[in-house]
Amino acid sequence: MRGNADHETTGLYPVPADWAARAHVDEGAYNIMYETSVTAPEAFWLHHGQCIDWFKPFTKVKNTSFAPDNVSIRWFEDGTTNVSYNCIDRHLATRGDQVAIIWESDDPGHDIKITYRQLHTHVTKWANVLKSQGVARGDRVTIYLPMIPEAAYAMLACTRIGAVHSVVFGGFSSDALADRIAGAASSVVVTVDEGLRGGRKVPLKANVDVAANKLAGVVTSVIVVKRTGGDVAMTVGRDRYYDELAASVPDDCPPEEMGAEDPLFILYTSGSTGKPKGVLHTTGGYLVYAAMTHQYVFDYHDGDIYWCTADVGWVTGHSYIVYGPLANGATTLMFEGIPTYPTISRFWDVVDKHKVNTFYTAPTAIRSLMGAGEEPVKRTKRKSLRLLGSVGEPINPEAWEWYHRVVGDRRCPIVDTWWQTETGGILITPLPGATKLKPGSATRPFFGVRPEIVDAEGKVLEGATEGNLVIAESWPGQMRTVYGDHKRFEETYFATYPNKYFTGDGCRRDADGYYWITGRVDDVINVSGHRMGTAEVESALVAHPSVSEAAVVGYPHDIKGQGIYAYVTLMTGEKSSDALSKELVAHVRKEIGPIASPDLIQFAPGLPKTRSGKIMRRILRKIAEDEYGGLGDTSTLADPAVIDDLIANRQNKR
Ligand code: WT7
Repeated sequence: MRGNADHETTGLYPVPADWAARAHVDEGAYNIMYETSVTAPEAFWLHHGQCIDWFKPFTKVKNTSFAPDNVSIRWFEDGTTNVSYNCIDRHLATRGDQVAIIWESDDPGHDIKITYRQLHTHVTKWANVLKSQGVARGDRVTIYLPMIPEAAYAMLACTRIGAVHSVVFGGFSSDALADRIAGAASSVVVTVDEGLRGGRKVPLKANVDVAANKLAGVVTSVIVVKRTGGDVAMTVGRDRYYDELAASVPDDCPPEEMGAEDPLFILYTSGSTGKPKGVLHTTGGYLVYAAMTHQYVFDYHDGDIYWCTADVGWVTGHSYIVYGPLANGATTLMFEGIPTYPTISRFWDVVDKHKVNTFYTAPTAIRSLMGAGEEPVKRTKRKSLRLLGSVGEPINPEAWEWYHRVVGDRRCPIVDTWWQTETGGILITPLPGATKLKPGSATRPFFGVRPEIVDAEGKVLEGATEGNLVIAESWPGQMRTVYGDHKRFEETYFATYPNKYFTGDGCRRDADGYYWITGRVDDVINVSGHRMGTAEVESALVAHPSVSEAAVVGYPHDIKGQGIYAYVTLMTGEKSSDALSKELVAHVRKEIGPIASPDLIQFAPGLPKTRSGKIMRRILRKIAEDEYGGLGDTSTLADPAVIDDLIANRQNKR
């Protein structure tokens, strides 16, 4: 259920008066700016491209083509700049002693405040440590760290010397890490002895060892940050503690002058087929877009304390913990722990402790906290909160209302921000001083963004309608290519609907022109805001010796949004059992990581296939969703009898 008739025709939540007065952009300004941004994009971006400092100013604004076999995206292409300069150095004269990063550790008794000046010192040291390990401009560095300030230092240090970082989420397994290190051909890996989450240690260095040993010859240097001080194996000649390396390098490191289109980072993300793709973002356009969206969407003003609860291993952490806020000279909070430790009030305790004004989290977190009732929220004050944000998956109206009423005391607007790893920054979102809110709707496009809804044939649908979401024009934060595979980039995003960027999402537009994202229309599932390719989970399952075939689909899950439902056919002679089911879950965790764990496994003697052997996922999805009425035409099945068995043995939702 996404909204009701009332939400669709009236703005149920008007812009609060204090917001209209304070905001950078009110409703009238939004309309004018949006209109200019799409009718005169060159002029619009010439102006807004100045939100970062350029070493050499750009003269060309935009040079982009979505032609299916010749996709080319360039923004501000003749300008030069440096990301770490913009995020640090340019603030030193005016806000050197202002806190840049508040680090709240897993332990509620421990936090650290890092000023812009201190950030400068850390990042230049880090840059020289990377150089000491042979890292040069254009080289890829894999960062496999938990939520500690060193993650931001290492990322910024890469940008300072023109190296390209590839951050791998600390929840990925050693196998998944190895794939990503190999994909980026990265000879230097940055990690930690152990992470700490909810009081439990996470063996990140041990995972790096497994990955690096698999990739002998590729990984030549592992830089280890000390977090717990735990005893970890150090391979002589390859592994060094950061502290030791830092002791013998100089303090100073001038920022490299980078071209606007020089690669900035790679971030692996799941697609509907094959292995995860290395999404490549470049320097100038990405930073302009991250900074500008952070400023307008969160209506950032000097002095605001801003907290995004994402992990730096995901794009949200890149754009809205590190780059956007720091480019704007903000104070950004980085949280090492989890929402339920030591108590279920932790988020709100942190809000009170650090007087957080803007709080940006994922619907799955809201839904799971909702389950514990209002008391753990209400026992905290939350007086500093002004604005709430949501990201990662559709937020159901019930969770939206709860977030608004209980967390925000009906005082704080909610910005439901729709975007993707590929988009670099937020594309569809309310602006808090400009947009009336409808619970469950991401509302209106950001400046310069031209969403369209198309039918299966690519016909553009007008007015109130539903279909597939495409974007008709480039924006500066758009990904430039799949690292090392431009053809895959063109085929994945530009072949389905020629001359448009295909998002992979379904979408509805109501009579007010508001957008309602309905979820993925491809074989990607969204588990707790984490994106997972069904093909990846399937290939992990069939790698197990007992499995002959597997088909994975998503099903509605109360907390996670979607859960992972796996149909598994065993090798002849293998017997299904609870023990084997558990073993398969453990196997997937090892191959990919805990976020890919199947929630339900159904052993199936046969899968529904067409006569040409293609698995009919539509049917498997319906069975997993418990909607037999909608099975549709099954006459093309090679063996219609498999359906009865599948229905009879359907696993129950947990
Ligand atoms: C997919 C992208 C954007 C950063 C985090 C996820 C879904 C994201 C929303 C939202 C409805 C959303 C889409 C999108 N999604 N935000 N506000 N409302 N759906 O990035 O891992 O690249 O996943 O997340 O399905 O395609 P990602």
